[in-house]
Amino acid sequence: MIIAVGADHGGFLLKTKIVEFLKELGHEANDLGTHSEEPADYPDYARVVCRQILQKKADKGILICGSGVGACVAANKFPGIRAAICHDTFSAHQGVEDDNINVLCLGARVIGDELAKDLVKVWLSASFSEAERHRRRLSKVEEIEREFLKGNRNSDTFKDRA
Ligand code: RB5
Repeated sequence: MIIAVGADHGGFLLKTKIVEFLKELGHEANDLGTHSEEPADYPDYARVVCRQILQKKADKGILICGSGVGACVAANKFPGIRAAICHDTFSAHQGVEDDNINVLCLGARVIGDELAKDLVKVWLSASFSEAERHRRRLSKVEEIEREFLKGNRNSDTFKDRA
């Protein structure tokens, strides 16, 4: 799989380890920054990671900030993105099986490197169940997007925002 990965300064160090881990697992990791511990704004990395997914340049995304919270808030503003902070393995697989999350958010100041790697592995191994009740619930989430979010799922939305 192609995984877009982004982090702010709080997530930078963990991101370098996760990028290497993804490669060890046989995935392609698109490291979209940040590339140092200089202060950086998490919405900028949410934007580039989500953009890659919506443009189908990446299959899924991982966002890392200090807590995982800011990155998750920003990512969920993009129609078609379903992001969640998963700091336990149950949520990491159930979030895909039931909720079809396409962005995993991690808090580098909350969890350790080894748990982060386990979470990534479990998350990537899970698949959406396709169960009717989960499809119905996700359709309702999409209804909310259509009603309240201005953008749309068409990648053209992002053409002039490189
Ligand atoms: C940056 O200091 C910190 O606020 C950020 O990494 C993140 O935790 C926000 O949710």
